[in-house]
Amino acid sequence: MDFEYTEEQLLIQKTAREFAEEHLAPGVIERDEKKIYPAEQIKMLADLGFMGMMVPEEWGGAGLDTISYCIAMEEISNVDASAGVVMSVNNSLVCQLLNDFASDEQKEKYLKPLASGKWLGAFSLSEPQAGSDASNLLAFARRESDYYILNGTKNWVTNGINSNVVIVFALTEKDVGYRGISSFIVEKGFDGFSTGKPENKLGIRGSDTCEIYLDNCRVPVENRINEEGMGFKIALKTLDGGRIGIAGQALGIARAALEHSVDYAKERKQFGKTISSFGAIQQKIANMATDIDAARLLIHKSAYLKDQHKPYSAEAAMAKSFASKAAMDASTECVQIFGGYGYMQEYGVERLMRDAKITQIYEGTTEVQEIVVARSILEKR
Ligand code: CAA
Repeated sequence: MDFEYTEEQLLIQKTAREFAEEHLAPGVIERDEKKIYPAEQIKMLADLGFMGMMVPEEWGGAGLDTISYCIAMEEISNVDASAGVVMSVNNSLVCQLLNDFASDEQKEKYLKPLASGKWLGAFSLSEPQAGSDASNLLAFARRESDYYILNGTKNWVTNGINSNVVIVFALTEKDVGYRGISSFIVEKGFDGFSTGKPENKLGIRGSDTCEIYLDNCRVPVENRINEEGMGFKIALKTLDGGRIGIAGQALGIARAALEHSVDYAKERKQFGKTISSFGAIQQKIANMATDIDAARLLIHKSAYLKDQHKPYSAEAAMAKSFASKAAMDASTECVQIFGGYGYMQEYGVERLMRDAKITQIYEGTTEVQEIVVARSILEKR
């Protein structure tokens, strides 16, 4: 077993860290407050090859492994978790899905521009009545000669507004449960496609989230991904990988909380001493550091299994539920260490707490991750 990063992974870490400090740190508080999408920075991430990291070079990607992707997600989200989620959705929910399930024609037309970062993608599974119960869809795709006519409302679509292409899941057959779900590549310009207003969120406010309305939206048959009825399995398989990326995002937030806490605790004096000398503060710092290391090990193990083409659903679920709790706990304790200052926006740590919360909700709530883990353990015995 080797716990060292390779030369290539170290280079990714250095590149991502320097990029984040130089281009994401300036203005991060303002972007959060005013809900400003980091458009320029996302273009730069594309130039670095960070928008299609795991896609082979022949399809426009960087051809890197999943651990490299996790390292980049940690570094970017350490400074700006909004940029982190934009990157994560494009990499793991859109490019990885197309890489695994699309035809060569679809890869040529869509994966190449998405993986190179020329275009941005979104993934649209959820509906108002179908969150954790993700197969309970109402959106319907009716076949009409060479087109599918899509109708329905989708929600919580990250990148929905800024994307060029959305992977949409809809029923092609009713009353057969998840076996009736199919997936489609939908261009923003297709007739009958529109997006709702940007949602006003608690955190990751620099990224956009919206509803999508499909009103007799005409999608060519050649834009259906894989066979009819395969959509749900495609979604769940893709979300397994997505959960590793979100765990990486959570890890970046948790590490930011630790770094801010240490810097502040060594500087802030109360009762004539720096607060880092108090046991209560040391205990918080020790717990944060332990959780962060444990989260990273779970993340890298699931990434390794994915790269080895071994089963990794349960490991990805463990990584996401653990890392997202680590982020929530560390950011809450960080605000506590900062005390009154932590509650003020300009110190930049209350944002960590708000950003951390979503990592326990999207791409499968913690409770869904626990279902996935429990089922796998129970099935093994
Ligand atoms: N990969 C491939 N196939 C899988 C799978 C996986 N990881 N997990 C299950 N399946 C298959 C099953 O084998 C089964 O097929 P068979 O009958 O042929 O064996 C089929 O899929 C249905 O599986 P289940 O019966 O287990 O399905 P379920 O209805 O009980 O759901 C669930 C299980 C884990 C709760 C699942 O619904 C789930 O993950 N829900 C959460 C959805 C989610 O993560 N949504 C996030 C959307 S994206 C987002 O957050 C927004 C964004 O923009 C970031």
